[in-house]
Amino acid sequence: MKVSVIGASGYTGGELLRLLVNHPEVTLDRITSESNAGSFVHMIHPNLRGFNIKFSSIKESFDSDLVFFCLPHGVSMDYLREFYDTGVKIIDLGADLRLKDKDVYKSWYGLDHKCPELLEEAVYGIPEIHREEIKKTRLVANPGCIATSMIMALYPLRHLNIDKDRIVIDSKIGSSASGDSFSASSHHPERSRAIRCYSPIYHRHIAEVEQETGFKVTMAPHAIEMVRGIFSTTYLFLNQPYDEKEIRGIYREFSEQNKFFRVVKQKKGIYRHPDPKILTGSNFCEVGFELDRENRRMVVFSAIDNLMKGAAGAAVQNMNIMYGLEEDTGLKYIGYHPI
Ligand SMILES: NC(=O)c1ccc[n+]([C@@H]2O[C@H](COP(=O)([O-])OP(=O)(O)OC[C@H]3O[C@@H](n4cnc5c(N)ncnc54)[C@H](OP(=O)(O)O)[C@@H]3O)[C@@H](O)[C@H]2O)c1
Repeated sequence: MKVSVIGASGYTGGELLRLLVNHPEVTLDRITSESNAGSFVHMIHPNLRGFNIKFSSIKESFDSDLVFFCLPHGVSMDYLREFYDTGVKIIDLGADLRLKDKDVYKSWYGLDHKCPELLEEAVYGIPEIHREEIKKTRLVANPGCIATSMIMALYPLRHLNIDKDRIVIDSKIGSSASGDSFSASSHHPERSRAIRCYSPIYHRHIAEVEQETGFKVTMAPHAIEMVRGIFSTTYLFLNQPYDEKEIRGIYREFSEQNKFFRVVKQKKGIYRHPDPKILTGSNFCEVGFELDRENRRMVVFSAIDNLMKGAAGAAVQNMNIMYGLEEDTGLKYIGYHPI
């Protein structure tokens, strides 16, 4: 299939190209960047040296079966309708198609939606929840990276008797999650070794988590000293006591149905709980937990690589499903150790 990447000079675009150049079913069509049109891709993504691909402009003609959008939210929706009307399949890695309700979108993003008619058709791209719908659609809203880490921890527990209005999450986030543009706060002397809370209470990814799980969530994200990786700690209050075996069984069943989901709960060793460090470059989400049965509390840990399961890896997983391929085609990378 012929595939294009729009906004390919950014971090998610670069990661998508890393996956697509070795995908057995993919031929690259347009790889766009407005500020780098005409230049070799490896001038921006040096890990792609040897592939001799060039950036073009979004204004040039496309001959693709599927187009990935890797643009900032608010920008994707300038182009989505036009591309959709040509009949191509679309996977949008930005936020413009993720929320089902245009008023909810406006309340979190402060923008009027420019193509609200597409929101109903767009399928929220977590295959672990919406696999069957993804098979049939030609419009996928790839989830947010922090949202993915939270949803993967919570969704399997949706049938438990827990306090669904009182879920507290603390997320730690690597610097690549905010893209390749820089600001005073991302300047190295300011960012390095900082543990900085930003958008506490009202982070936009909360809207996706509430939409997909039905839970009410309080979440505070923290920028930490990592380039890739998200680690979310979720605190749950249980309305009845549960056994560890029961919870483990729920997560294990979910992992049996989903190739990229793993439960991690080792009694020995250094990595007893999930750790995003060792998932770097892989599409896995790892989830672990500890249960305080007596006090009816549970803490869940979830880890991903934000550019893989949190963005490009999930996008390729969705593409595979849309084309009836094995879900892990071109995604069989495991993480690094040591790193
Ligand atoms: N980084 C992550 O971990 C992550 C994870 C999940 C989802 N996302 C989402 O994925 C999208 C892309 O993220 P990213 O991290 O790759 O961002 P990024 O590194 O900032 O890249 C953004 C891309 O969009 C292009 N662009 C920006 N403004 C444009 C405009 N007005 N018209 C056309 N092209 C424009 C940029 O390059 P040119 O100006 O050269 O064209 C660049 O290629 C965002 O919506 C982000 O929220 C990111």
